Amino acid sequence: MQTPVIAPSILAADFGNLEREVKMINDSQADWIHVDIMDGVFVPNFSMGLPVVEAVKRHAKKPLDVHLMIVNPDHYLAAFCKAGAHSISVHVEACQHLHSTIQQIKALGCKAGVAINPHTPVIQLENIIADIDLVCVMSVNPGFGGQKFIEHTYRKVEKLKKMILDANATALIEIDGGVNQQNAKPLLDAGADVLVAGNFVFSAANPMDVIARLKATH
Ligand code: DX5
Ligand code: ZN
Repeated sequence: MQTPVIAPSILAADFGNLEREVKMINDSQADWIHVDIMDGVFVPNFSMGLPVVEAVKRHAKKPLDVHLMIVNPDHYLAAFCKAGAHSISVHVEACQHLHSTIQQIKALGCKAGVAINPHTPVIQLENIIADIDLVCVMSVNPGFGGQKFIEHTYRKVEKLKKMILDANATALIEIDGGVNQQNAKPLLDAGADVLVAGNFVFSAANPMDVIARLKATH
C-alpha cells in the first residue's frame, strides 16, 4: 500500500486565524489543502468564496484541492482555477454534461475530479473514470463538517477501486467526511488513496501530530 495523501479540510479551521492555520498545514506532513465551496443551493449551507480561496493560496505551500458543492459549476471553473486551485472536483449530481465539464477543468490546467454523494452508485462514473484524476467519495452528506462517517462507504470504495483497475485508469480515490484514525486504515485497505480530514485535525490539541499519524497509517 502506498502512503496516503492527507488533505486537511480548511472548513474546520479557525477562520479568524486563517494564515496561522494554513502555515500549520505547510509545516505539517499534509500533502494537499482541501477547500470546500458551498452555495446554499446544492447543499444546505454556505462556506467560503473566491476571496477566501485567494487568501489561502497566498499563504499555502501545498496544492489546493477545491471541492465545489455548487450548482452550475461550469460558470465558476475559470475563477477557481485563477484563484489558485490545483484540482477541482465537481459533483456528478450537479452536472448535466459531466464530460464537458471535466474537459473544461483540464483545459484550464487543473486536475479534474468528480465527487459523488453517499446515495449515488459508483456505476455512474463508469463512462468518465478514464478521463478523471480524482474521485471524491462523500462519506457524509455534503454541507457540514463534523458529521458521522457512513459505513457503507467501504463497499463503494471497493467497487470503485475495481472499476478503476478494470479500466486501466489512474484516478485517485479520495474520502471526504468523518475521517478519523479508526476508519483510516480500513479505508486504505479498501482502496482509498486520499484522506480528507476536517474536524479530526482541527479540533485536536495538536493538529500537526494528528496529520502525522494519519500519514503514517498503513
Ligand atoms: C463536507 C465537506 C468536507 C468536510 C469534512 O460537506 O465536503 O470536506 O469539511 O469535514 P469532517 O472531516 O469534519 O467530516
Ligand atoms: Zn469536501
